[in-house]
Amino acid sequence: MEEEEQPRRGPHFVGKKDELIEAKRTLITVGGRDILVLHHQGVFYALDCYCYHSGGNLQNGDIEELGSRLCITCPKHKYKISLAEGEGMFKGSDTTVKPPVAKWYTKGVKQRVHAVTETNGDVYITLSDDRCYIESDYYQGEVGKERRAKA
Ligand code: FES
Repeated sequence: MEEEEQPRRGPHFVGKKDELIEAKRTLITVGGRDILVLHHQGVFYALDCYCYHSGGNLQNGDIEELGSRLCITCPKHKYKISLAEGEGMFKGSDTTVKPPVAKWYTKGVKQRVHAVTETNGDVYITLSDDRCYIESDYYQGEVGKERRAKA
């Protein structure tokens, strides 16, 4: 089996802040991992580009606030993913109140998110070093598939 490129640790340059803000969404590849860097309402986010559900490309997903979290909607099957945490979100019914009301709940972290930093107008991402398998890993090459097999 061919070994995949291991990304070096530490920050990876993404681009100039002004250019990234203008672009709004930028796809970069770091160590064989495709990552979506996006700027929304004054904040940068970075997450795996392919949806944990079935590999849909998140690059053109709509963004909306759900249950006080900003979420991206996968264009493929409309799953919702929180931008900051990578949590899969679902709408359920809160039966603790009468009458029950619809409410957004989390399924836990499903999409790997990465840290974004800015220095002197330059933007960097630092890859998540969480060693646990996260479902979006599966769509990031053979290493992700092997991680799932071991999980
Ligand atoms: Fe994203 Fe199915 S692939 S919701």
